[in-house]
Amino acid sequence: MSTVSEYIDINKEQFKHELFDFLRIPSISTDSEYKNEVIDAANFLLDKLNSLDLDRAEVFETEGNPIVYGELITDESKPTVLVYGHYDVQPPDPVDLWDTPPFDPTVRDGDIYARGAADDKGQSYTHVKALEAYQETDTDFPVNIKFIFEGEEEIGSPHLVPFIKEHKDLLECDMVLISDTAMFAEDTPSITYGLRGLAYMEINVKGPNRDLHSGVYGGAVDNPANVLCEIIAQLKDDDGVVQIDGFYDDVIELTEDDRETYAKLPFDKEEYKEKLGLKALKGEKGYNTLERTSARPTLDVNGLWSGYQGEGAKTVLPAKAGAKVSMRLVPDQDPKKIAKLFKEHVKSLAPDTVTVEVNEHHGGHPAITDLSFYGLQAAADAFEAVYDKEPLFTREGGSIPIVADFQKVLGVQSILMGFGLNSDAIHSPNEKFALKDFYRGIHTSAKFFELLPNYS
Ligand code: BES
Ligand code: MN
Ligand code: MN
Repeated sequence: MSTVSEYIDINKEQFKHELFDFLRIPSISTDSEYKNEVIDAANFLLDKLNSLDLDRAEVFETEGNPIVYGELITDESKPTVLVYGHYDVQPPDPVDLWDTPPFDPTVRDGDIYARGAADDKGQSYTHVKALEAYQETDTDFPVNIKFIFEGEEEIGSPHLVPFIKEHKDLLECDMVLISDTAMFAEDTPSITYGLRGLAYMEINVKGPNRDLHSGVYGGAVDNPANVLCEIIAQLKDDDGVVQIDGFYDDVIELTEDDRETYAKLPFDKEEYKEKLGLKALKGEKGYNTLERTSARPTLDVNGLWSGYQGEGAKTVLPAKAGAKVSMRLVPDQDPKKIAKLFKEHVKSLAPDTVTVEVNEHHGGHPAITDLSFYGLQAAADAFEAVYDKEPLFTREGGSIPIVADFQKVLGVQSILMGFGLNSDAIHSPNEKFALKDFYRGIHTSAKFFELLPNYS
């Protein structure tokens, strides 16, 4: 009989095939056309949980996408780990920029290319295979484990929040384990202790009751596209400071200690610039790149539309213009409060020549893990055992909205044990995940469960 670690090495091909089956399911949560595929992905996970020896495994229906749950209680006196992941993915658009089809996983140069490879199917599946390795080698599982997989993370987890409120007993645990973040760099294991929050807004500007000839009417009628640009241009000043009243009120400033920790991270600004094909970087004055992308709030246009977009020129004064704007938030900013401030501010900038509507899309709270939490040390030691390197502790700019709710509702810290890379192109064409990190992820998860009971 092999050891847990040997079992993982022996079964690599099989794990890869299973992950590929998972990746072939286009479980796009934002597009209702893919409702059935989202359900297929939930059932895929249910089948995999059922193939383990768990105490229970089931799908909970919600008003939205199903929640997949499983649990194995080995010993009440042992710590209980709640593994969280999401089986929904972002749309693959723009599809023509993919080198191979997004839902036909392909390995090139040791990377798996597919939508969801890193975010989050490949990463979250590691924990399922880690448990399998224990069970198939008849090794006692060292902790209690609960799995929760949702299908709405990419749309702001609207049904998971009420679910955890209603199922506090079911989800009772000592910590949450999540693999849905990135390592600081290749072969550089990292534990993420901070995530940003999000407020996502849409602005719609309406002018005349139809598109107008820009020669016949231009000069006499305010142009919604111009108005929208003027509004957006006033949202930040030249130093990159957001101009919305009260925007920074609840921001926790970086301490000198924080800044020293940031300064020690092995970051190469020139390389960062080069990899993005940029001539220069730009951000809030007084902060460096890493601080700007993880510890400072932002305001960015994510989408912008108006007027003629086709080939050639069409002389038209558009009747409408619109923009989607995201604001990444840091502790202790509140997404609802920021959304309200944004709305009021944008309205106050609107001239009376047009109507300006501001609506709020999904959001999420920022989160920060308590660095003294004992689970982090077990995670760090597990990383070191597998990657042969002490992990870095970093804050990241992305959002996993449920992390703050796990803290608030269940009163537990999350361990963000990411195996991805920022260069994985999540949400972009040609998303990838290194095969070796899929395997090292399984090893690290297995090691974490082994080590955890020694810490408290
Ligand atoms: N896995 C990401 C979040 C992430 C990415 C965290 C990289 C840290 C590093 C997650 O799936 C995601 O994309 N979240 C959304 C949340 C939003 C839709 C509420 C995000 O950050 O845009
Ligand atoms: Mn994710
Ligand atoms: Mn994502």
